[in-house]
Amino acid sequence: MSEKMWSGRFTLPTDKFVEEFNASVHFDNRFYKYDIKGSIAHAKMLAKQKIISDKDRDDIISGLEQVLTEIESGRFQWKTEDEDIHMAIEKRLTEIVGDAGKRLHTARSRNDQVAVDFRMYMKSEIIEIQALLAELLKAITEKADMDKETMMPGFTHLQTAQPILFAHWLMAYFQMLKRDFTRFEDCLHRMDYCPLGAGALAGTTFDIDRHFTAKELGFKAPTENSLDSVSDRDFAIEFLSAASICQMHMSRFSEELIIYSTSEFDFIELSDDFCTGSSIMPQKKNPDMPELIRGKTGRVYGSLISMLTTMKGLPLAYNKDMQEDKEPVFDALDTLKASLKIFAPMVGKMKLKPAKMEKSAGAGYSTATDLADYLVRKGLPFRQCHHIVGSAVAYAIEKGADLSELSLDEFSKFTDVITEDIYQFITVRASVNSRSAYGGTAKSSVVEQLNSAKKFLNEIY
Ligand code: ARG
Repeated sequence: MSEKMWSGRFTLPTDKFVEEFNASVHFDNRFYKYDIKGSIAHAKMLAKQKIISDKDRDDIISGLEQVLTEIESGRFQWKTEDEDIHMAIEKRLTEIVGDAGKRLHTARSRNDQVAVDFRMYMKSEIIEIQALLAELLKAITEKADMDKETMMPGFTHLQTAQPILFAHWLMAYFQMLKRDFTRFEDCLHRMDYCPLGAGALAGTTFDIDRHFTAKELGFKAPTENSLDSVSDRDFAIEFLSAASICQMHMSRFSEELIIYSTSEFDFIELSDDFCTGSSIMPQKKNPDMPELIRGKTGRVYGSLISMLTTMKGLPLAYNKDMQEDKEPVFDALDTLKASLKIFAPMVGKMKLKPAKMEKSAGAGYSTATDLADYLVRKGLPFRQCHHIVGSAVAYAIEKGADLSELSLDEFSKFTDVITEDIYQFITVRASVNSRSAYGGTAKSSVVEQLNSAKKFLNEIY
């Protein structure tokens, strides 16, 4: 039985099951690169401050480089008895370089070590997520840019409301996902402070240079309070909140793709390579990808709630509960990245069915508001117009006709201000193109949105 690094005050070896229950090495080994990076920066700082010798520093660095190679080539032996990534690497380092390895942990604790590893890991993952989000934003913009004509019904309560451009619908998701992009950006900036050097909780008696390590590791500055540095995981919680919101946006987007590809709606067709068949019903083409993305949203929320719950009752500073902070984040990260990776090409490759979309766009009296607006322009108060159009719609429903099919004679039953020009206002195209106020669905407004989107993409690419 190998001796633990902390076994000095113990007389009994750890119970085998306790050892397993206690270990995090099988999941926190995702941090290996950052753990090694952090240790190299720490060793450089210790030597610069004359806390260890230059020879020890050089041995530590070459030893850690060897450990890195062993891990990346799959030769490294991950052992439960080493407990976590920090001790596994330090132990192997000491096997390779001897006493120098044992000096590395001077002026450091696993508490500030895990805090710095986790932040570095998150920073790099967030950058990857932003790159995937940028791909999706680009796919949406390109798709919308390719088709600025096709109309579809816009819904409220999933009841036909007013006609809109398909590109307008798509660009609504652009806005949501763009905010997600900036939310990740904000969260990245807030976590950009280096906790290394906070020690176990109270700082250290050695004359360390925390500004040096912060800079060496690519942080904006060191954290200001040692107790806070090792205690909070708000950076991970903030990431999980942003991830939950982003996944929720993709889930709604998925839901619309699912319903719009049913034979009842028949507005779009997802590409074959994003669908699956049924083992019994030969005609089926199921939208499994958007369904899974919608389904996986629950686990991302679950990670957020799990983490908030883990943290809510903890006294300062570190508590072992906090070892439970990693797996939910890893799971959320994997889920979000996979969903984003699938979404961009799925949007890019989906096919529209313009004839069906436009037929639906005109159904359900979708231009009734345009008739009311017409009456307002003729001088009637809006409330009164609303009532008049309501009666005209009821009449048309009874007759089984569309509003544009009513004759002037029939319109005159409800008001005497309607003249021949009405028919040019209540077509679907006229309805869409008249909504040209800033942010509306008119083609002119959608073009403005696209220009601003392209500008944003230029800035982030
Ligand atoms: N494996 C631990 C974790 O993930 C590292 C920190 C351990 N610190 C301690 N005082 N036991 O939280």
